[in-house]
Parts: sequence; C-alpha cells; structure tokens
Amino acid sequence: MKVIAFNGSARKDGNTARLINLAFEELTREGIETELLQLAGRPIHGCTACYQCFARRDRRCALDDDIANECIAKMDGADGIIIGSPTYFGGITPEAKALIDRSGMVGRANNDMYKRKVGAGVVAVRRAGGIHVFDTINHFFTIGQMIVVGSSYWNIGIGRNSGEVEGDEEGLKTMRDLGVNMAWLLKRLNP
Ligand SMILES: Cc1cc2nc3c(=O)[nH]c(=O)nc-3n(C[C@H](O)[C@H](O)[C@H](O)COP(=O)(O)O)c2cc1C
Repeated sequence: MKVIAFNGSARKDGNTARLINLAFEELTREGIETELLQLAGRPIHGCTACYQCFARRDRRCALDDDIANECIAKMDGADGIIIGSPTYFGGITPEAKALIDRSGMVGRANNDMYKRKVGAGVVAVRRAGGIHVFDTINHFFTIGQMIVVGSSYWNIGIGRNSGEVEGDEEGLKTMRDLGVNMAWLLKRLNP
C-alpha cells in the first residue's frame, strides 16, 4: 500500500512538509509506503479548460508541458493521497490549486479515477485562513468519491518561519493521529 503526498508550498521542506512527514512516520510504522512530491521549483500551471481529457479519456492531461501528468500517475498508483498547502492570503497556493484543477478534471473525465482512495488535506498557517485551505482541499476529495480520513482536530499546524510549526504541540499531535487513522482505514479497505 502506498500514500503519495504533494506539498503545494513554494518553500521546500518548510512547515507543510514537516506536518506531512509526521503523518508519514505513523504510516511507515504501519508498513505503508510513502512518497512526498514537493511542488516548489517544479512548475505546474492551471487548467486551460480545453476539455481534451474528456475527449481522450486516457488518464492523462492533454498538456504534457509540466509535472501534472507525473502527479496524476502517482495519484492513480496510490491508495492514499495527501495534498498539503500553506495558507496564502486566506487560500491555497497557486501550485496546489493548479494540481487540484488539473488532476481533478482528468479524474472526472476518467470515471472518477481516484474513487475510494483515502484522502487528507494538510495545512500550514501563521494566523488565519487555514480552515478555508483545509475545506478547499477536501472539495477535491469529496467530489471524486474519495474517502476523507479525519484526525483529532482539523489538519492544521501553526507557524510562520520554516520549522516554527514544531512548536505547535496540538498541530503535531493532529498530524500523528491523522497518520494513525489513515493507516487504520487503508488496512481495512485493502485487507
Ligand atoms: C504569499 C504568502 C501569503 C500568506 N498568507 C497568509 C495568510 O493569509 N494567513 C496566514 O495565517 N499566513 C499566511 N502566510 C504565512 C504562511 O501560511 C506560513 O508561513 C506557513 O507556515 C508557510 O508554510 P511553508 O513553510 O510550508 O511554506 C502567507 C505566506 C506567504 C508567503
């Protein structure tokens, strides 16, 4: 079993990555393979609304000029998908939104290709707007017949500078609980 996570931050190995890695520790403990793909420095552009994915239905985006198809293939091959994003002006990052729009449209064009995979959003925030980011990510999972796994709080960690999230005890516990719950669910869905 495998969980693929995408870090939509423009900052590699920052707070969002640290939060995802805490969930990963628990998944690894349960024998589940993990992979983190960080979008920082790997450009991905938004959907151009060409609708070629619906014409072709080949599980790919028609625009093969960035990492979107690599991301889509990794989602297709995984049992669980984590999408992480820091909060930028009360919303998700442009990179995370591009990933959601491109992979989401290809998923819809191909009979909900992520159907019944397990999904979770992970959010870093300095002060406000994190819940909106969390909700936005969950829209991707729930429109595609995915199963969203919960934790002991909404999956949000607080910090500004890289690493500051390590001081948010409750945020760290939330991510560990998320990893435990995700492993629990994955094992029951894939006995
Ligand atoms: C362009 C930009 C916009 C931001 N907007 C917000 C915001 O609306 N609310 C907030 O609490 N923090 C905001 N922040 C702070 C980040 O969410 C915070 O530093 C987060 O921990 C960064 O995660 P990262 O280390 O994974 O990049 C913003 C940061 C940047 C660079």
